[in-house]
Amino acid sequence: MSITGSKQKQIGVLTGGGDAPGLNAVIRGITVRGLSLGYDVLGLKHGWAGLLGEGEHDSLDLDKVENIHTLGGTILHTSRTNPYKVDNGIEQVKKNLKKLKIHCIIAIGGEDTLGVAWKLHKDGIKVVGVPKTIDNDVNATDYTFGFDSAVNTAAEAIDSLHTTASSHSRVLVVEVMGRHAGWLTLHAGMAGGAHMLLIPEVPYDIEEVCGLVMRREKAGKAHTIIAVSEGAVPIKGKMILQHQEKDAFGHVRLGGIAEDLATEIQHRTGKECRHVVLGHLQRSGHPSAFDRVLGTRLGVHAMEMVHNSEFGKIAALRGNDIISASMQDALGNLKVVPKSRYDEASIFWRG
Ligand code: F6P
Repeated sequence: MSITGSKQKQIGVLTGGGDAPGLNAVIRGITVRGLSLGYDVLGLKHGWAGLLGEGEHDSLDLDKVENIHTLGGTILHTSRTNPYKVDNGIEQVKKNLKKLKIHCIIAIGGEDTLGVAWKLHKDGIKVVGVPKTIDNDVNATDYTFGFDSAVNTAAEAIDSLHTTASSHSRVLVVEVMGRHAGWLTLHAGMAGGAHMLLIPEVPYDIEEVCGLVMRREKAGKAHTIIAVSEGAVPIKGKMILQHQEKDAFGHVRLGGIAEDLATEIQHRTGKECRHVVLGHLQRSGHPSAFDRVLGTRLGVHAMEMVHNSEFGKIAALRGNDIISASMQDALGNLKVVPKSRYDEASIFWRG
Protein backbone atom coordinates (compact mmCIF):
# COMPACT_ATOMS: atom_id res chain seq x y z
CA MET A 1 0.00 0.00 0.00
CA SER A 2 1.38 3.42 -0.87
CA ILE A 3 1.65 5.98 1.88
CA THR A 4 2.04 9.54 0.73
CA GLY A 5 2.67 12.65 2.80
CA SER A 6 1.32 13.17 6.32
CA LYS A 7 -1.67 15.02 7.72
CA GLN A 8 -1.99 16.51 11.19
CA LYS A 9 -5.25 14.88 12.04
CA GLN A 10 -6.56 13.10 15.10
CA ILE A 11 -8.01 9.60 15.05
CA GLY A 12 -10.06 7.95 17.79
CA VAL A 13 -9.55 4.28 18.68
CA LEU A 14 -11.99 2.16 20.67
CA THR A 15 -12.42 -1.47 21.68
CA GLY A 16 -15.99 -2.78 22.00
CA GLY A 17 -17.71 -6.03 23.03
CA GLY A 18 -16.06 -8.91 24.88
CA ASP A 19 -12.32 -8.50 25.26
CA ALA A 20 -9.96 -10.76 23.32
CA PRO A 21 -6.23 -11.37 23.71
CA GLY A 22 -4.44 -9.26 21.12
CA LEU A 23 -6.47 -6.05 21.52
CA ASN A 24 -3.47 -4.22 22.95
CA ALA A 25 -1.32 -5.34 20.01
CA VAL A 26 -3.84 -3.68 17.64
CA ILE A 27 -3.89 -0.49 19.74
CA ARG A 28 -0.08 -0.40 19.70
CA GLY A 29 0.04 -1.04 15.93
CA ILE A 30 -2.41 1.80 15.27
CA THR A 31 -0.61 4.19 17.60
CA VAL A 32 2.92 3.55 16.36
CA ARG A 33 1.87 3.72 12.69
CA GLY A 34 -0.44 6.68 13.32
CA LEU A 35 2.27 8.74 15.01
CA SER A 36 4.77 7.90 12.26
CA LEU A 37 2.25 9.16 9.68
CA GLY A 38 1.79 12.40 11.60
CA TYR A 39 -1.57 11.71 13.25
CA ASP A 40 -2.52 12.21 16.89
CA VAL A 41 -4.11 9.12 18.39
CA LEU A 42 -6.85 9.40 20.99
CA GLY A 43 -7.92 6.30 22.94
CA LEU A 44 -11.69 6.32 23.58
CA LYS A 45 -12.52 4.45 26.79
CA HIS A 46 -15.12 1.73 27.39
CA GLY A 47 -16.11 1.07 23.78
CA TRP A 48 -18.78 3.27 22.23
CA ALA A 49 -19.44 4.72 25.72
CA GLY A 50 -16.24 6.74 25.13
CA LEU A 51 -18.20 8.85 22.65
CA LEU A 52 -21.33 9.30 24.78
CA GLY A 53 -21.92 11.97 27.43
CA GLU A 54 -18.60 13.45 28.51
CA GLY A 55 -16.87 10.25 27.27
CA GLU A 56 -13.55 9.21 28.83
CA HIS A 57 -10.48 9.38 26.59
CA ASP A 58 -6.72 9.50 26.74
CA SER A 59 -4.03 10.57 24.25
CA LEU A 60 -1.85 7.66 23.23
CA ASP A 61 1.89 8.05 22.72
CA LEU A 62 4.87 5.76 22.27
CA ASP A 63 5.48 5.45 26.02
CA LYS A 64 1.86 4.50 26.73
CA VAL A 65 1.88 1.68 24.18
CA GLU A 66 5.39 0.40 24.77
CA ASN A 67 5.29 -3.40 24.95
CA ILE A 68 1.53 -3.54 25.56
CA HIS A 69 1.21 -6.14 22.79
CA THR A 70 2.28 -8.75 25.36
CA LEU A 71 -0.67 -7.94 27.64
CA GLY A 72 -4.16 -9.45 27.54
CA GLY A 73 -7.35 -7.40 27.93
CA THR A 74 -7.51 -3.85 26.61
CA ILE A 75 -5.85 -0.75 28.03
CA LEU A 76 -8.86 1.21 26.69
CA HIS A 77 -11.39 -0.96 28.54
CA THR A 78 -14.52 -2.19 26.80
CA SER A 79 -18.29 -2.41 27.09
CA ARG A 80 -21.27 -3.71 25.18
CA THR A 81 -22.70 -0.18 24.75
CA ASN A 82 -24.85 0.40 21.66
CA PRO A 83 -25.13 4.16 20.91
CA TYR A 84 -28.14 3.43 18.67
CA LYS A 85 -29.99 2.17 21.77
CA VAL A 86 -29.19 5.28 23.83
CA ASP A 87 -31.47 8.37 23.75
CA ASN A 88 -29.83 10.91 21.43
CA GLY A 89 -26.87 8.52 21.22
CA ILE A 90 -25.85 9.41 17.69
CA GLU A 91 -26.16 13.16 18.33
CA GLN A 92 -23.85 12.67 21.34
CA VAL A 93 -21.38 10.70 19.22
CA LYS A 94 -21.35 13.41 16.54
CA LYS A 95 -20.99 16.17 19.15
CA ASN A 96 -18.04 14.42 20.79
CA LEU A 97 -16.33 13.73 17.46
CA LYS A 98 -16.53 17.44 16.71
CA LYS A 99 -15.44 18.49 20.19
CA LEU A 100 -12.48 16.11 20.19
CA LYS A 101 -11.64 16.98 16.55
CA ILE A 102 -11.64 13.31 15.57
CA HIS A 103 -11.16 12.80 11.85
CA CYS A 104 -11.88 9.06 11.82
CA ILE A 105 -12.72 6.29 14.31
CA ILE A 106 -10.97 2.92 14.27
CA ALA A 107 -13.41 0.50 15.91
CA ILE A 108 -11.95 -2.81 17.09
CA GLY A 109 -14.69 -5.34 17.77
CA GLY A 110 -16.91 -8.20 16.72
CA GLU A 111 -20.18 -8.23 14.81
CA ASP A 112 -21.90 -5.86 17.28
CA THR A 113 -19.18 -3.20 17.39
CA LEU A 114 -18.66 -3.42 13.63
CA GLY A 115 -22.44 -3.27 13.12
CA VAL A 116 -22.48 0.10 14.90
CA ALA A 117 -19.41 1.20 12.91
CA TRP A 118 -21.18 0.34 9.65
CA LYS A 119 -24.30 2.31 10.63
CA LEU A 120 -22.15 5.30 11.59
CA HIS A 121 -20.36 5.05 8.25
CA LYS A 122 -23.74 5.20 6.53
CA ASP A 123 -24.57 8.21 8.73
CA GLY A 124 -21.57 10.00 7.25
CA ILE A 125 -18.93 9.33 9.93
CA LYS A 126 -15.50 8.13 8.87
CA VAL A 127 -14.79 4.68 10.31
CA VAL A 128 -12.40 1.80 9.77
CA GLY A 129 -12.92 -1.54 11.52
CA VAL A 130 -10.69 -4.27 12.92
CA PRO A 131 -12.50 -7.59 13.49
CA LYS A 132 -12.06 -9.23 16.90
CA THR A 133 -13.56 -12.17 18.75
CA ILE A 134 -12.39 -15.36 20.39
CA ASP A 135 -15.39 -17.00 18.67
CA ASN A 136 -13.73 -16.52 15.22
CA ASP A 137 -17.17 -16.07 13.67
CA VAL A 138 -16.67 -12.79 11.75
CA ASN A 139 -16.96 -13.16 8.00
CA ALA A 140 -14.51 -11.57 5.52
CA THR A 141 -11.44 -12.50 7.55
CA ASP A 142 -9.79 -15.92 7.75
CA TYR A 143 -9.13 -15.67 11.49
CA THR A 144 -9.94 -13.10 14.13
CA PHE A 145 -7.20 -12.29 16.63
CA GLY A 146 -7.95 -13.65 20.10
CA PHE A 147 -9.09 -16.97 18.71
CA ASP A 148 -5.64 -18.58 18.73
CA SER A 149 -4.99 -17.58 22.36
CA ALA A 150 -8.41 -18.86 23.43
CA VAL A 151 -7.83 -22.14 21.57
CA ASN A 152 -4.50 -22.60 23.37
CA THR A 153 -6.08 -21.93 26.78
CA ALA A 154 -9.06 -24.22 26.18
CA ALA A 155 -6.94 -26.97 24.59
CA GLU A 156 -4.55 -26.96 27.53
CA ALA A 157 -7.50 -27.25 29.93
CA ILE A 158 -9.05 -30.15 28.00
CA ASP A 159 -5.67 -31.85 27.74
CA SER A 160 -5.17 -31.53 31.52
CA LEU A 161 -8.61 -32.89 32.34
CA HIS A 162 -7.66 -36.33 30.96
CA THR A 163 -5.66 -37.19 34.09
CA THR A 164 -8.46 -36.62 36.57
CA ALA A 165 -11.15 -38.08 34.29
CA SER A 166 -9.11 -41.20 33.73
CA SER A 167 -8.08 -41.59 37.40
CA HIS A 168 -11.76 -41.59 38.43
CA SER A 169 -13.09 -43.38 35.32
CA ARG A 170 -15.48 -40.49 34.81
CA VAL A 171 -17.19 -38.68 32.00
CA LEU A 172 -16.20 -35.00 31.91
CA VAL A 173 -18.30 -32.54 29.97
CA VAL A 174 -16.34 -29.34 29.21
CA GLU A 175 -18.26 -26.18 28.27
CA VAL A 176 -16.44 -23.97 25.78
CA MET A 177 -17.41 -20.43 24.70
CA GLY A 178 -19.07 -19.90 21.32
CA ARG A 179 -22.56 -18.52 20.97
CA HIS A 180 -23.37 -19.36 17.38
CA ALA A 181 -20.17 -20.87 16.04
CA GLY A 182 -18.24 -23.90 17.25
CA TRP A 183 -14.74 -22.90 16.06
CA LEU A 184 -13.31 -22.76 19.56
CA THR A 185 -14.76 -26.14 20.53
CA LEU A 186 -13.63 -27.66 17.24
CA HIS A 187 -10.02 -26.48 17.48
CA ALA A 188 -9.56 -26.78 21.25
CA GLY A 189 -11.36 -30.13 21.37
CA MET A 190 -9.27 -31.58 18.54
CA ALA A 191 -6.02 -30.26 20.02
CA GLY A 192 -6.89 -31.28 23.60
CA GLY A 193 -8.03 -34.78 22.60
CA ALA A 194 -11.73 -34.55 23.51
CA HIS A 195 -13.51 -37.76 22.52
CA MET A 196 -16.57 -35.97 21.11
CA LEU A 197 -17.37 -32.40 20.11
CA LEU A 198 -20.81 -30.78 20.21
CA ILE A 199 -21.17 -27.48 18.37
CA PRO A 200 -24.05 -25.08 17.58
CA GLU A 201 -23.95 -25.83 13.85
CA VAL A 202 -24.77 -29.54 14.27
CA PRO A 203 -27.59 -30.39 16.70
CA TYR A 204 -26.52 -33.31 18.91
CA ASP A 205 -28.29 -36.56 19.62
CA ILE A 206 -28.08 -37.51 23.31
CA GLU A 207 -28.35 -41.19 22.35
CA GLU A 208 -25.26 -40.89 20.18
CA VAL A 209 -23.43 -39.15 23.04
CA CYS A 210 -24.33 -41.91 25.52
CA GLY A 211 -23.60 -44.55 22.88
CA LEU A 212 -20.03 -43.30 22.63
CA VAL A 213 -19.58 -43.34 26.42
CA MET A 214 -20.76 -46.97 26.57
CA ARG A 215 -18.69 -48.06 23.54
CA ARG A 216 -15.59 -46.66 25.17
CA GLU A 217 -16.48 -48.37 28.47
CA LYS A 218 -16.85 -51.74 26.71
CA ALA A 219 -13.50 -51.21 24.97
CA GLY A 220 -11.85 -50.77 28.39
CA LYS A 221 -11.59 -46.98 28.10
CA ALA A 222 -13.32 -45.88 31.24
CA HIS A 223 -13.11 -42.12 30.82
CA THR A 224 -14.67 -39.87 28.21
CA ILE A 225 -14.21 -36.16 27.61
CA ILE A 226 -16.90 -34.29 25.73
CA ALA A 227 -16.30 -30.69 24.63
CA VAL A 228 -19.53 -28.74 24.14
CA SER A 229 -20.07 -25.19 22.87
CA GLU A 230 -22.22 -23.05 25.15
CA GLY A 231 -24.54 -22.53 22.17
CA ALA A 232 -24.89 -26.21 21.19
CA VAL A 233 -28.46 -27.49 20.78
CA PRO A 234 -29.96 -30.95 21.11
CA ILE A 235 -31.88 -32.45 18.17
CA LYS A 236 -34.93 -32.31 20.41
CA GLY A 237 -35.25 -29.49 22.93
CA LYS A 238 -33.88 -26.00 23.41
CA MET A 239 -30.69 -24.03 23.96
CA ILE A 240 -29.80 -23.58 27.64
CA LEU A 241 -30.15 -19.92 28.63
CA GLN A 242 -28.53 -18.70 31.83
CA HIS A 243 -30.43 -15.43 31.94
CA GLN A 244 -33.48 -14.21 30.14
CA GLU A 245 -32.52 -10.53 29.95
CA LYS A 246 -30.78 -9.32 26.80
CA ASP A 247 -27.79 -7.01 26.36
CA ALA A 248 -27.85 -3.81 24.23
CA PHE A 249 -27.31 -5.94 21.12
CA GLY A 250 -30.11 -8.39 21.88
CA HIS A 251 -27.96 -11.31 23.08
CA VAL A 252 -29.07 -13.45 26.01
CA ARG A 253 -26.32 -14.90 28.20
CA LEU A 254 -25.77 -18.57 27.43
CA GLY A 255 -24.41 -21.22 29.75
CA GLY A 256 -25.40 -24.29 31.70
CA ILE A 257 -25.35 -26.84 28.91
CA ALA A 258 -22.41 -28.85 30.30
CA GLU A 259 -24.11 -29.30 33.67
CA ASP A 260 -27.35 -30.42 32.05
CA LEU A 261 -25.56 -32.82 29.74
CA ALA A 262 -23.51 -34.33 32.56
CA THR A 263 -26.69 -34.95 34.58
CA GLU A 264 -28.43 -36.51 31.59
CA ILE A 265 -25.48 -38.76 30.64
CA GLN A 266 -25.12 -39.98 34.24
CA HIS A 267 -28.84 -40.70 34.38
CA ARG A 268 -28.82 -42.64 31.09
CA THR A 269 -25.50 -44.54 31.39
CA GLY A 270 -25.02 -44.89 35.15
CA LYS A 271 -21.47 -43.53 34.66
CA GLU A 272 -20.20 -40.94 37.10
CA CYS A 273 -20.18 -37.57 35.30
CA ARG A 274 -18.80 -34.15 36.11
CA HIS A 275 -18.86 -30.87 34.23
CA VAL A 276 -16.37 -27.99 33.84
CA VAL A 277 -17.19 -24.52 32.52
CA LEU A 278 -14.06 -22.88 31.08
CA GLY A 279 -15.86 -19.51 30.94
CA HIS A 280 -13.95 -16.25 30.88
CA LEU A 281 -10.62 -17.99 31.45
CA GLN A 282 -10.70 -18.49 27.69
CA ARG A 283 -10.54 -14.72 27.10
CA SER A 284 -7.97 -14.12 29.84
CA GLY A 285 -4.21 -14.01 30.11
CA HIS A 286 -1.48 -13.09 27.67
CA PRO A 287 -2.07 -13.29 23.92
CA SER A 288 -0.32 -16.04 21.97
CA ALA A 289 2.58 -15.08 19.70
CA PHE A 290 0.23 -15.59 16.72
CA ASP A 291 -2.31 -13.09 18.11
CA ARG A 292 0.41 -10.57 18.98
CA VAL A 293 1.66 -10.63 15.41
CA LEU A 294 -1.81 -10.70 13.82
CA GLY A 295 -3.06 -7.87 16.06
CA THR A 296 0.01 -5.75 15.31
CA ARG A 297 -0.31 -6.22 11.54
CA LEU A 298 -4.06 -5.46 11.62
CA GLY A 299 -3.46 -2.30 13.64
CA VAL A 300 -0.77 -1.02 11.27
CA HIS A 301 -2.93 -1.79 8.24
CA ALA A 302 -6.04 -0.17 9.76
CA MET A 303 -4.06 3.04 10.31
CA GLU A 304 -2.83 2.96 6.73
CA MET A 305 -6.44 2.52 5.59
CA VAL A 306 -7.34 5.73 7.43
CA HIS A 307 -4.43 7.50 5.76
CA ASN A 308 -5.55 6.25 2.34
CA SER A 309 -9.21 7.19 2.98
CA GLU A 310 -10.44 3.58 2.82
CA PHE A 311 -13.41 4.25 5.08
CA GLY A 312 -16.30 1.85 5.77
CA LYS A 313 -13.91 -1.12 5.45
CA ILE A 314 -12.15 -3.54 7.77
CA ALA A 315 -8.56 -4.73 7.98
CA ALA A 316 -8.69 -8.49 7.47
CA LEU A 317 -6.47 -11.57 7.21
CA ARG A 318 -6.65 -13.34 3.86
CA GLY A 319 -4.19 -16.21 3.64
CA ASN A 320 -0.97 -14.69 4.96
CA ASP A 321 -1.83 -11.17 3.82
CA ILE A 322 -3.56 -8.32 5.60
CA ILE A 323 -6.03 -6.73 3.23
CA SER A 324 -8.81 -4.11 3.22
CA ALA A 325 -12.16 -5.94 3.09
CA SER A 326 -15.77 -4.88 2.92
CA MET A 327 -17.26 -4.08 6.33
CA GLN A 328 -20.68 -4.99 5.01
CA ASP A 329 -19.47 -8.48 4.03
CA ALA A 330 -18.12 -8.94 7.54
CA LEU A 331 -21.61 -8.33 8.88
CA GLY A 332 -23.91 -10.19 6.49
CA ASN A 333 -23.71 -13.68 7.96
CA LEU A 334 -21.68 -15.17 10.75
CA LYS A 335 -18.81 -17.41 9.71
CA VAL A 336 -19.82 -20.81 11.07
CA VAL A 337 -18.07 -24.19 11.03
CA PRO A 338 -18.70 -25.90 7.69
CA LYS A 339 -20.14 -29.42 7.79
CA SER A 340 -16.96 -30.78 6.18
CA ARG A 341 -14.84 -29.57 9.13
CA TYR A 342 -17.20 -31.23 11.61
CA ASP A 343 -17.26 -34.47 9.62
CA GLU A 344 -13.47 -34.49 9.56
CA ALA A 345 -13.35 -34.20 13.37
CA SER A 346 -16.13 -36.75 13.93
CA ILE A 347 -14.08 -39.53 12.29
CA PHE A 348 -12.47 -39.85 15.72
CA TRP A 349 -15.72 -40.95 17.39
CA ARG A 350 -17.82 -42.17 14.49
CA GLY A 351 -15.02 -44.02 12.69
O1 F6P B 1 -16.93 -12.32 22.94
C1 F6P B 1 -17.58 -13.47 22.64
C2 F6P B 1 -17.97 -14.20 23.92
O2 F6P B 1 -16.80 -14.57 24.61
C3 F6P B 1 -18.87 -15.39 23.65
O3 F6P B 1 -18.14 -16.55 23.34
C4 F6P B 1 -19.61 -15.48 24.94
O4 F6P B 1 -20.90 -16.06 24.77
C5 F6P B 1 -19.77 -14.05 25.36
O5 F6P B 1 -18.72 -13.34 24.76
C6 F6P B 1 -19.73 -13.83 26.86
O6 F6P B 1 -19.98 -12.49 27.09
P1 F6P B 1 -19.79 -11.76 28.48
O7 F6P B 1 -18.34 -11.49 28.66
O8 F6P B 1 -20.58 -10.51 28.34
O9 F6P B 1 -20.28 -12.69 29.56
